Amino acid sequence: MKAWRDRPTEQAQAAAEAARRRAETEAELDAAGIDLDPIPPGQHAHPHQHSDPGERPTTGIVGAGAVGTALGVALTRAGWPVQAVASRDPARREHFHGLVDGARRFAEAQALIEEVELIILAVPDDALAPLARSLRMYSGQAMIHTSGALGAEVLEPAMAAGTQIGSFHPLVAFADTERAVTALHGATVAIEGDDQLAPLLAEMAEALGATAVRLAPGSKAAYHAAAVLAAGGFVALLDAIAELGAVAGLDEAGSLAIYGPLIEGTLGNARALGIRAALTGPITRGDVGTLRAHLTTLANHAPGVLDLYVAAARREIELAVARGSLAPGAAETLRASLPSRLQGPGEPVP
Ligand SMILES: NC(=O)c1ccc[n+]([C@@H]2O[C@H](COP(=O)([O-])OP(=O)(O)OC[C@H]3O[C@@H](n4cnc5c(N)ncnc54)[C@H](OP(=O)(O)O)[C@@H]3O)[C@@H](O)[C@H]2O)c1
Repeated sequence: MKAWRDRPTEQAQAAAEAARRRAETEAELDAAGIDLDPIPPGQHAHPHQHSDPGERPTTGIVGAGAVGTALGVALTRAGWPVQAVASRDPARREHFHGLVDGARRFAEAQALIEEVELIILAVPDDALAPLARSLRMYSGQAMIHTSGALGAEVLEPAMAAGTQIGSFHPLVAFADTERAVTALHGATVAIEGDDQLAPLLAEMAEALGATAVRLAPGSKAAYHAAAVLAAGGFVALLDAIAELGAVAGLDEAGSLAIYGPLIEGTLGNARALGIRAALTGPITRGDVGTLRAHLTTLANHAPGVLDLYVAAARREIELAVARGSLAPGAAETLRASLPSRLQGPGEPVP
């Protein structure tokens, strides 16, 4: 039998041992991204961390892909607390954690919801609806996504009483984390959210050095399609330029070195003079012989570029007519020279 005075020491040691084991287990569970605080069925009170009044909300990001990781880095540097990340991929979780010190890691998005007040879903557009259907928010929380194509309503299935939803779409090409963090400065962020959430999202955009804008109802798809043309569409154009450059003996770096200044000059002209006035080239002059020579070369040496060239030429003809530099007859001759379908290698152009 132990003396009673020994008991507190033993109890303290046992308690310390239990706490040590619990901390170890929690660290292992945490590293494995396992939910530490499962919600008993039907219970919706929970211990997610609350910010003090006037403070920025505790924030978590679901999706450690291009956008999620760059936003995590940018928000942290801006003094906006990113406290958790959820990614199903252990390597991406670790990578995020390496860049955003102190962020807790979860494999499951619902486990992250237990931790934070503002939940950012940075997952592919097609994953948003099924993911939102699998999640449940708690009173006082807000959930946003970063898609430019979808409205905030895709998040409705995750809502409970007293929650808010919105969207936060940065007009940035997230090809590389550091470059994207830099590009957020001066970028535009389209936000959606009710009157309580929108000011917070605008504050978040401003913290990143960006400008928040609200789009007219129903205009999001067109706004996003323009963004896709400006980013991915422009890269497709660059790729076509490089393919033609290769026919002329240039490697990719050579094409970028030679045609890059021409692109920048054209963009500068459009900014200074307007888009119509920036149009140059054989179509503005009605040079049908040059157009035909290009089409023959493309059909023979770069047939994969032909449809893009033809689509751009059709648009250039309309632009030149609209600004009055191409007579209707010359425009008709140019239009008639364009193939109505893709040419095979060696096939004559009309
Ligand atoms: N890329 C851009 O330039 C850009 C610009 C503005 C806005 N956006 C928008 O931002 C969003 C994310 O784009 P992103 O380029 O960052 O995509 P991404 O690089 O492909 O990353 C997506 C992340 O979401 C996770 N994920 C995928 N499917 C999931 C699911 N069913 N449930 C939970 N998580 C899932 C991924 O996998 P793991 O869970 O396995 O890690 C990954 O971490 C999209 O809505 C996109 O339209 C993109």
